[in-house]
Amino acid sequence: MQILIVGLGYVGSVAAAGLAYAGHEVIGTEIDREKLEGYINGTLPIYEPGLDDLIKQGVSEERLKFQHISEIERITAPVVMICVGTPSRPDGAADISQVKKVISWVRERVTAPTTLVMKSTVPPGTGKKLISDYLGESTGKISYVSNPEFLREGQAVKDWFNPDRIVLGGYDNKAIELVKSLYDNIDAPFVITDVTSAELIKYAANAFLATRISFINEIANLCDYLDADIQDVAQGIGLDPRIGSSFLKAGIGYGGSCFPKDVRALDFLAMVNGHEFELLRSVINVNNKQPVLAVQKLRRELGTLNNKRISLLGLAFKPGTDDLREAPALKIIRLLQDEGARVQAYDPVANKKAAVSLGLDEGITFCSTIWDALHGAEAAIIATEWEEFIELDWEKAKEKMAEPYLILDGRNCLSPNVMQELGFKYLGMGRRAKLKNF
Ligand code: UGA
Repeated sequence: MQILIVGLGYVGSVAAAGLAYAGHEVIGTEIDREKLEGYINGTLPIYEPGLDDLIKQGVSEERLKFQHISEIERITAPVVMICVGTPSRPDGAADISQVKKVISWVRERVTAPTTLVMKSTVPPGTGKKLISDYLGESTGKISYVSNPEFLREGQAVKDWFNPDRIVLGGYDNKAIELVKSLYDNIDAPFVITDVTSAELIKYAANAFLATRISFINEIANLCDYLDADIQDVAQGIGLDPRIGSSFLKAGIGYGGSCFPKDVRALDFLAMVNGHEFELLRSVINVNNKQPVLAVQKLRRELGTLNNKRISLLGLAFKPGTDDLREAPALKIIRLLQDEGARVQAYDPVANKKAAVSLGLDEGITFCSTIWDALHGAEAAIIATEWEEFIELDWEKAKEKMAEPYLILDGRNCLSPNVMQELGFKYLGMGRRAKLKNF
C-alpha cells in the first residue's frame, strides 16, 4: 500500500522504515530541508539504534523515498500518517498548530479517498474536533484514525516490531480495518476504540508511568530521612506482580520530549474541562523538585557551591540517546551556575548538542573526555546512567578528582559499598549512606 508519512522525527522515521520493511511503498516528507537531506544522504539527524540500516534497506529496495513537502502537489496515497510534533505551550497545553497545518495541506492536495492516521500525540478530544472542523461531510474523501505510538527513544526500532499493543481509534470501520492491515507483519493485540479513548490511552499511559517515577522518587526521598535503601525497597515492592518491577528506578526525575510535555498537557486539559487532576500536579511537582534536592545534597556536603569544581556526568535525558529535551542534567547545570559553581560537563554523545543549547557560558566547560571532566573536581554528579560511567575505573577517577571526592549518584547506578571502599564520599537518591553493617 502507498503511505505518505508527514514529519520525520523519531516516530515518523521509524514508522517509515518499519512500514517499508513490511512491503509498503512509503514516502517520508518533511518541512526541514536539512533533516530531509540527512535521510536522503544516510546521515540521520537522530540517533536511533538500527534505524540507519533499516532506512538503507528500504531505500535500496526502492520501497522508501524521501521528498520535501514543497515538492508534493497531489496526494493519492490511501494512507497519510501524521507524525509531527506537539510541543508544550507556555501554559502547559499541547501546541497542535503543526497538526492543523498538515491537515489543511492534505485537504488541499488530496485527489483520491484517503485515511489520515494520527500518530502525533494530540490531547483527548482533538481528533473529534479535527473531524468536525476540517474533515466534514463536504470533502467526503478523508477518513480519520487515531493510532498513538508508544515507542521509546533509543529502542524505537525494537519497539516498532515488538509493540505491547496497537491502539486504533475511529468511527469508520473500513478505515480501521485498512490501518489494521498495515500491521499484518506484527504480532500484537489490537485495542480498537473511539478516537477520544485512543487519544486518552496515550496520555494515560505516559501519565501513569510518570506517576510511578514520581512515587518511587518520593519513597527515595523518605529513605534519605530514614536511612533506608530505595534499591531494596523497590525490589521488595516490585516482586509483587500487581506492582511489577519496571519504572521503579529512583533518581533526579524524568525528562525527554514526552513525559514532561504530556503530563503537563493532560493536567491542562483536565483543568480546562473543570477537573482538578491533583495527583498529576503532585507528579509534576515531585519531578521539578528532584534536581533541586540533588543540588541541596551537594551544598550540604560542600558548604557552598561557589567556585567549586563540579563534574557533571551525563547530559542526555536517558542513556542511549543524544536527546536533551527537558533533561534533568540541564536543570542541575542551571542551578549550579546560579550558585557560582564551575561545571565540567561530559556526555558520551550529547556534548555538542548541549554546548549549542546551553551556550558557552563562563561557569561551564564541555569536556571531550570523562577524565577532563573529573579533573580537579571536588564532586561529580551522575545525571545519566551511561554504561561508560557504570564501567568506569573509579580508582583512576579518584586520582583525577580533589577532596572530598564526593559522588552524587543521581541515577543510583553505582554501588555505594564499592564507592565508599574506594574512598569516595557517596550519596545516592535514597541510598543508605553507610556501608552495610547490621
Ligand atoms: C516514553 C514512553 O516510555 C514511551 O512509551 C512513549 O512512547 C514515549 O515516552 C512517547 O510518548 O513518545 P521515552 O521518553 O523515550 O519514552 O523515555 P523512557 O524510557 O520512558 O524514559 C523517560 C524518562 O523517565 C527518562 O528521563 C528516564 O530516565 C526516566 N525514568 C524512567 C526514571 O527516572 N525512572 C524509571 O524507572 C524509568
